[in-house]
Amino acid sequence: MKKLRFGIIGAGGIADRRTIPGMMEAKNVEVVAVMEINADNAERLRAKYNAKFAYTDAEELVKNPEVDAVYIASPVVCHAAQAKLAADYGKHILLEKPIAMSSEQGEEVLAYCAQKGVQVAAGFMMRFGSHIMSMKEAVAAGKIGQVVSGYAQFTLWLPDGNWRLDKAKSGGGSLMDMGVHCIDLMEYILGSRITHVTALNETVAFDYNVEDSSTVLLRMANGAQCVVQTNFNIPDEVSKWRLEFFGTRGRLMGDTIIGQNDGGKLNAVYMDEVPDYDAAQDHADAEGIEIEGNFGNMYTREVESFADSILNGTPLEVPASDAVHVQKVIELAYRSTEENRIFEVK
Ligand SMILES: NC(=O)c1ccc[n+]([C@@H]2O[C@H](COP(=O)([O-])OP(=O)(O)OC[C@H]3O[C@@H](n4cnc5c(N)ncnc54)[C@H](O)[C@@H]3O)[C@@H](O)[C@H]2O)c1
Repeated sequence: MKKLRFGIIGAGGIADRRTIPGMMEAKNVEVVAVMEINADNAERLRAKYNAKFAYTDAEELVKNPEVDAVYIASPVVCHAAQAKLAADYGKHILLEKPIAMSSEQGEEVLAYCAQKGVQVAAGFMMRFGSHIMSMKEAVAAGKIGQVVSGYAQFTLWLPDGNWRLDKAKSGGGSLMDMGVHCIDLMEYILGSRITHVTALNETVAFDYNVEDSSTVLLRMANGAQCVVQTNFNIPDEVSKWRLEFFGTRGRLMGDTIIGQNDGGKLNAVYMDEVPDYDAAQDHADAEGIEIEGNFGNMYTREVESFADSILNGTPLEVPASDAVHVQKVIELAYRSTEENRIFEVK
C-alpha cells in the first residue's frame, strides 16, 4: 500500500506522547523526519521512531523531497508561520488545534495553503473516538428525537509551568486549549452549526493571565441549547470528561469519552414513541442501555483518514476551515464575557 511520508514539526510533546505512536500503527503512513528545537531531543526522537532524518530547523524538514506531509504539533504561536512554510514547499498539513492564534490568522493560513495547492486538516482527533462516532450516528438516525440539550465538560490540572498559561504563546486558557475540542464535537455530533454564544471566562483558582475556568452557552441551528465547561483547575483524578445529549425521545450520556484515550462509558435511552404528559413524573432515572465501544487508537484513525484524503482524494474528515469556524465562536465567547453580551455567530 502506498504510504504518506510524514515529517513532524515539534515532535517532542503530544506528537511523542500520542500521535507518532498512532502513526506507527497506521497502515498508510510512514514517519520519515522529525524536528525539535534541541538537537539531542531531535536525534533521540528520530532513533525512537526509526525515522530517517532529524532536524532542529523546520525549513530543513519541509525542504526534504522525501517528506510528503507535515504534522505540526508545536506551541500555538508557531502554527501559522510553520504551516505557511510547509505550504511553500508543497507539503500537505495536519495542524494541531487551535490551528492559529486567531481566526483571522487561521483564515490567512487557509488562503495561503489554497493558493499553494496544499490540503490542511485540523487535529480534532476526538472526532475519531468510538463513542463519539456512535453518538453522531445515533443523533443522525433520530434515535433521541429532536436534540434539545447538550453538555460537555473537559478539564486539566494546570497550576503552573506551561506555555499554555502565557497568553502570548497560547492565545487563551482552558477555552482556547480544550474548549475548541468540545465546541467542535457539539457541532460535529449534532450536525448543526452554532447560531448564538455567550460565556463566562475567569481565572478563579490560579494566578495567570489566561482563564482557568470557562463556561460557554451555545445555541445551535437545530434549536439545541448546549453548555461547554472547561477548566485548568480540576485535578485529573476527580475528572469525568462528560459529554451528554438529551432529546425529545432519548438521551446519550458519555462518561470519560472525551480526552486522549478512546474509551469511557456511553449510556443511552431510546424511546420508540413520544410519551404523554405524566404529572407524577415517576420515570426519571431510567437505567438505559450501555453502548459497546469499538475502541482503537484515535490518533491512528486520524492520520489514516488524513493520509487517505491526500493519497486517494477523499474529502478531509476534519478540514481546517472547521477549526477556523470554532475559533470564531470562541473569540465571540471571550468578547461576550468582556462586554457582558450574547452574540450571533455569522
Ligand atoms: N490533539 C491532541 O490530543 C492534543 C493534545 C495536547 C496538545 N495538543 C496540541 O498540540 C500542540 C502542542 O502541545 P503539546 O501539549 O504537545 O505541547 P508541549 O509543550 O508538550 O510540546 C510542544 C513541543 O514543541 C516543541 N517546540 C517549541 N518551540 C518549537 C518551535 N518553534 N518549532 C517546533 N517545535 C517547537 C517543544 O520543544 C515541545 O517538544 C498545541 O497546539 C496543543 O494544543 C493536541
